[in-house]
Amino acid sequence: MLRFTLKNWGPTMAEPEYRPGLADVPVAESAISFIDGKRARLEYRGIAVETLAKESSFEETSWLLLKGELPTQKQLATFDSQLRVHRRLKYKIIDLIKCLPESGHPMDALQAGVAACGMFYPTKDRTDPEKNWEAVIRLIAKLPTIVAAFHRLRRGDEAIPPRDDLGHAANFYYMLTEEEPSPSITKVIDACLIVHAEHTMNASTFSSRVTGSTLANPFTVVNSAIGTLAGPLHGGANEEVLDMLEEIGTAEKAKGWLEDAVLHKKKIMGFGHRVYKVKDPRATVLQELAEHMFAETSKPEIYNLAVEIERIATGILGPKGIFPNVDFYSGIVYQSMGIPRDLFTPIFAISRVAGWTAHWLEQLKNNRIFRPEQIFVGKNDQPYTPLGKRP
Ligand code: ACO
Repeated sequence: MLRFTLKNWGPTMAEPEYRPGLADVPVAESAISFIDGKRARLEYRGIAVETLAKESSFEETSWLLLKGELPTQKQLATFDSQLRVHRRLKYKIIDLIKCLPESGHPMDALQAGVAACGMFYPTKDRTDPEKNWEAVIRLIAKLPTIVAAFHRLRRGDEAIPPRDDLGHAANFYYMLTEEEPSPSITKVIDACLIVHAEHTMNASTFSSRVTGSTLANPFTVVNSAIGTLAGPLHGGANEEVLDMLEEIGTAEKAKGWLEDAVLHKKKIMGFGHRVYKVKDPRATVLQELAEHMFAETSKPEIYNLAVEIERIATGILGPKGIFPNVDFYSGIVYQSMGIPRDLFTPIFAISRVAGWTAHWLEQLKNNRIFRPEQIFVGKNDQPYTPLGKRP
């Protein structure tokens, strides 16, 4: 790894070391979530994610992340009803979504929808806790409606208005499919939203904090995080896992494909993590959910293939601390519910918005604009050659 030191750093301070990808460099103090990458432990405000996935709801988990404690019954009921009230989109936002190209990626449509919301609900004062809370509610409530509306409209169908009698997870599924999900599908979607809701200082959360530190409006904060999440090394990996599984095709081809990939230094999508050096606990929860779902339906061949890939890839990459991450099984779960592949990352976003906004509120409490240093490796004092004299 390249390492540079900053020569003119103040004499009293330790010389900083350049760490590509900011690996191991703390960029904030945060009390929201905790990872122990060796023990496969992920906690939201001290509570294990596995427990929340089993016992909690996305609405309750969002409150926990945002407020720091589990809500009382009254607090949860109020929060839940506020979310239901704010799910609807203004007809002008629906019209705007109608004008987007059908072939565009839903993550881009989500950014367009969130930017439009920012124009309809402008806020200037970041010191007003009530206005900030209102923005948080609107963001968590409206993201699923934007994703579902784009999906319906791009197929030439009408957008389906949200249903006030359904919870967050069931309503999202209903807006996508016009069908009310069964209790077990609702539980699986809800648990997926819970396990994706927060994950310490990952790339998109860092984006939200950087943008938040400029006191930009909360819709812009979430938009910068959505853009960061879209990349294939971050949230976009869940789509690529299924592309990879389809490319491999059958369990018999898995070993040869993996050995060739490792030989050519090709990344195995859905494997590896900056922090986890064991299997990501969220991958374990998602695999359990998949097993639970397939007990009701038949087990798809692609799931068996994924299990075989995990077995062989763990043998090859495990000694380097590379194991399945959250994206390895999530796509299989969504696909088995009939959800199209390009909606996997937007679903990640409608969950992670809880974490992004929790970090935004935490950032504002003790804000200082992010302004890191660089190591200059360019040239100085260059002459300017007029255009006519250049070859
Ligand atoms: N397949 C094969 N080798 C891998 C993989 C992988 N998935 N991940 C890491 N490695 C290897 C690298 O080739 C590298 O090997 P080397 O030291 O011999 O050069 C070493 O492990 C370190 O890899 P980095 O990419 O430097 O690790 P980093 O911590 O920077 O990246 C990341 C983490 C981006 C997640 C990486 O593991 C990766 O690209 N995985 C595939 C994409 C993916 O699944 N992303 C989703 C992550 S979870 C999330 O964002 C929600």
